[in-house]
Amino acid sequence: MYTEKVMDHFTNPRNVGEISDANGVGEVGNAKCGDIMRIYLKVEDNIIKDVKFKTFGCGAAIATSSMVTEMVKGKTLEEALEISNQAVAEALGGLPPAKMHCSNLAADALHEAIKNYIENKGQ
Ligand code: FES
Repeated sequence: MYTEKVMDHFTNPRNVGEISDANGVGEVGNAKCGDIMRIYLKVEDNIIKDVKFKTFGCGAAIATSSMVTEMVKGKTLEEALEISNQAVAEALGGLPPAKMHCSNLAADALHEAIKNYIENKGQ
């Protein structure tokens, strides 16, 4: 029921952890299931130089978190803001319909972290 890519990112998630000197942090909870995801960003010159995540959630949430970190590394903030839940799910080759809500966590947490960075900068 899960694609090979989902299983790969679930069993071998990329960019897990925290960034101690992160300048943007976003945390969201999934209203449907109570799972939580936190994203840490290190932004320099408008580019996402580093990104890490911590997810307390289901396998699909971990896979989408891992995928979103790979998708945004090296991107500008504007490019990263354009990444949607749908795009993350598609990059994983799709998610089962009952698990689509899990992909909300990843893009939402990313967007929150970017918002936090912009607030920190006082823009
Ligand atoms: Fe909670 Fe997937 S069941 S994020």
